[in-house]
Amino acid sequence: MRKKILAANWKMNLSLQEAKELFMKYNSLLPQADNIDYYIFSPSIFLHELRVVKGKLILGAQNFYPEKSGAFTGEISISQLIDAHVNAVLIGHSERRMLFNESDELIKQKVDFSLQNGFNVIFCCGESIEIRDKKEHINFVRNQLEVVFSHIKATDFSKCVIAYEPIWAIGSGRTANEKEIEEMHSAIRNWILKKYDVSTSQNISILYGGSCNGKNAKSIFSCPNVDGGLIGGASLTFESFNEIANKLQV
Ligand code: PGA
Repeated sequence: MRKKILAANWKMNLSLQEAKELFMKYNSLLPQADNIDYYIFSPSIFLHELRVVKGKLILGAQNFYPEKSGAFTGEISISQLIDAHVNAVLIGHSERRMLFNESDELIKQKVDFSLQNGFNVIFCCGESIEIRDKKEHINFVRNQLEVVFSHIKATDFSKCVIAYEPIWAIGSGRTANEKEIEEMHSAIRNWILKKYDVSTSQNISILYGGSCNGKNAKSIFSCPNVDGGLIGGASLTFESFNEIANKLQV
């Protein structure tokens, strides 16, 4: 059975004190079950402090640079993340693609590099509203997967989680409806089936992200091909994240 996953993307938010308090509450108070994993993507500067209280949570980085070391001012390497006991990375988020001009080529290098180093990857994909209006969203997302994973073998792909995040739903308060979400998630699972095999397609967790909150989480998680969520704004307080976690568990 594939895992249910709830991932918090704190983005560039919180003070160190707030992050530690929130992390400790997540660690001790979120509902626990064998088939649920919680990933916390914290600002990198807090990772060393959080590893001390890590507990059951999977600590993740929002970014890194896919080179061993060297003259890359401002960047963080995978071995520096390993030092901080991090073993998951978020790759392909639309904010990194759009605000920091991350290309498919760089994203592909990041996926390769993290898999070579044994990291779990949460790979984000999703279309803009213009692409959806032209009804090209399915092909667009399939292509985002194809360019990055074309050469990746099933054993490596099985260490990845896919997060579908329509750009128009991120931080906008407007979430995709169940029909739109299930259409895309089943298209992604089908793409995995065609490229790999039945067991890979059945075992990969596919998350939804984009204005997910305690009110809409239940209907989002009721979609058969949704295995959890990638949560931005609503991961910044324990109450709202916990509310979503409770919807995932039922
Ligand atoms: P949001 O962000 O939940 O605030 O829409 C989701 C994300 O960007 O991962």
